[in-house]
Amino acid sequence: MKNILEALEERRAAAKLGGGQKRIEAQHGRGKLTARERIELLLDSGSFEEFDMFVQHRCVDFGMQNQDKIPGDGVVTGWGTVNGRTVFVFAKDFTVFGGSLSETHAQKMVKIQDMALKMRAPIIGLFDAGGARIQEGVAALGGYGEVFKRNVMASGVIPQISVIMGPCAGGDVYSPAMTDFIFMVRDTSYMFVTGPDVVKTVTNETVTAEELGGAKVHSTKSSVADGAWDNDVEAMLQVRRLIDFLPSNNTDGVPELPSFDDPTRFDMSLDTLIPDNPNKPYDMKELIQKVVDEGDFFEIQEGYARNIITGFARVEGRTVGVVANQPMVLAGVLDSDASRKASRFVRFCDSFDIPIVTFVDVPGFLPGTAQEYGGLIKHGAKLLFAYSQATVPLVTIITRKAFGGAYDVMASKHIGGDVNYAWPTAQIAVMGAKGAVEIIFRQDIGDAEKIAARTQEYEERFLSPFVAAERGYIDEVIMPHSTRRRVSRALAMLRTKKAEQPWKKHDNIPL
Ligand code: HXC
Repeated sequence: MKNILEALEERRAAAKLGGGQKRIEAQHGRGKLTARERIELLLDSGSFEEFDMFVQHRCVDFGMQNQDKIPGDGVVTGWGTVNGRTVFVFAKDFTVFGGSLSETHAQKMVKIQDMALKMRAPIIGLFDAGGARIQEGVAALGGYGEVFKRNVMASGVIPQISVIMGPCAGGDVYSPAMTDFIFMVRDTSYMFVTGPDVVKTVTNETVTAEELGGAKVHSTKSSVADGAWDNDVEAMLQVRRLIDFLPSNNTDGVPELPSFDDPTRFDMSLDTLIPDNPNKPYDMKELIQKVVDEGDFFEIQEGYARNIITGFARVEGRTVGVVANQPMVLAGVLDSDASRKASRFVRFCDSFDIPIVTFVDVPGFLPGTAQEYGGLIKHGAKLLFAYSQATVPLVTIITRKAFGGAYDVMASKHIGGDVNYAWPTAQIAVMGAKGAVEIIFRQDIGDAEKIAARTQEYEERFLSPFVAAERGYIDEVIMPHSTRRRVSRALAMLRTKKAEQPWKKHDNIPL
């Protein structure tokens, strides 16, 4: 008996070495942790239960029958807890055939995906892999297909998070692309459908892996990644932080954490946040941080379309999604990128029953050929569609400008806003005074005195929250310093909200 127990320990120890000490050292030499080291950091200490440690590939082509069979076959799978809550995890092991996906490797992933869906618990994938195992051909492609299908089935039911922690190509980018969030590690991770060599052959472009698909590219330019972190340790700690904000599934509701921040707290500094000059920017993040619990804000897509802010926070210990125009960047205008960014975030929140708080200071949609040719109409419609479709509690605060179609889009009363407040500094109108006067009083252009009088008349009548408040489009004009209290109370009242959409197979959002 003792021998059998020892033999098990030996087999386990060998399996845990993956591709061997030399490859582990190479992995460390590149500034990367191994799959198992990453899982250790991600999960609560000692909580990892590994599955399928002894699974091996069954390939007999291209000399694979002569290769060492490495237990685990390039992916470490199992489950554990993050601050006590169950999560499922798979981590590609780059030390084993470059983490490439074989038929059996795919079966391990599929098992974990199926279990996560059955248990209605989040699944986290740590990627560091070379795509389909080339020697296995279509068996590997079929394996990816099984993984992709499950990504889609789980979408909107359990949160799916992907962290890119090494080179990722082919199927190892398409599976993450169908999950809810992708995060990358700076300097060590790359994502591309085809690498620099293929790019050179096909398009004759010379490009480095970093330029083609590094963390900077995907978190600021392509919007493929939702964030980037400096190293593996920080990445794992931030994913733990994110998990604390997320519900486990689409029916459990948001987690509730103890909060030590008084929900009725006034912040007098907000009364002077808006500059006297309406064209002067201010930092919307300051407002968000002063309103939410303990100023704790987890930003999503921080480096992309910075004219809109999206992220998670808590109010009275319960998660909210925050969407806010950022006057510091492009005056907070809505363009195609901002619309796409915010609409995806709104849909995530709505899928998982996360209430949305929207802070509005938007001068409108960005005019110009670049935007129109780029499909602004369709991208703007995405945000309009996402908010209109949302059935979660929607609380909206207009701090300053809410002009034109952007007023409607940003969770206005008309498209489903439940509680809509405005600060006394709000200006709710079709457009700003200058543009409006030049159109409706065109005959007076050239007469400076008349134009000045018309502008003043327009500003007094329309550039305030009161025209909207007179119609009930704004529920109340509130003191800026009381914003946290108002938002907390609105969210508390809205906890019992029940709103339904008519039955349909699914909608047809303008993709
Ligand atoms: C089998 C692979 C492999 C693969 C890497 N390896 N990729 N084995 N199949 N796809 C092995 C290498 O042979 C090597 O084995 C070890 O992993 C480490 O790889 P290196 O090349 O030495 O590492 P590095 O220089 O860091 O380069 C990493 C890499 C590169 C950028 C990922 O290996 C690479 O380009 N691989 C191929 C990527 C690719 O084209 N994949 C197919 C995509 S198509 P040893 O024994 O020396 O340690 C696809 C189809 C699905 O995925 C599409 C669905 C839509």
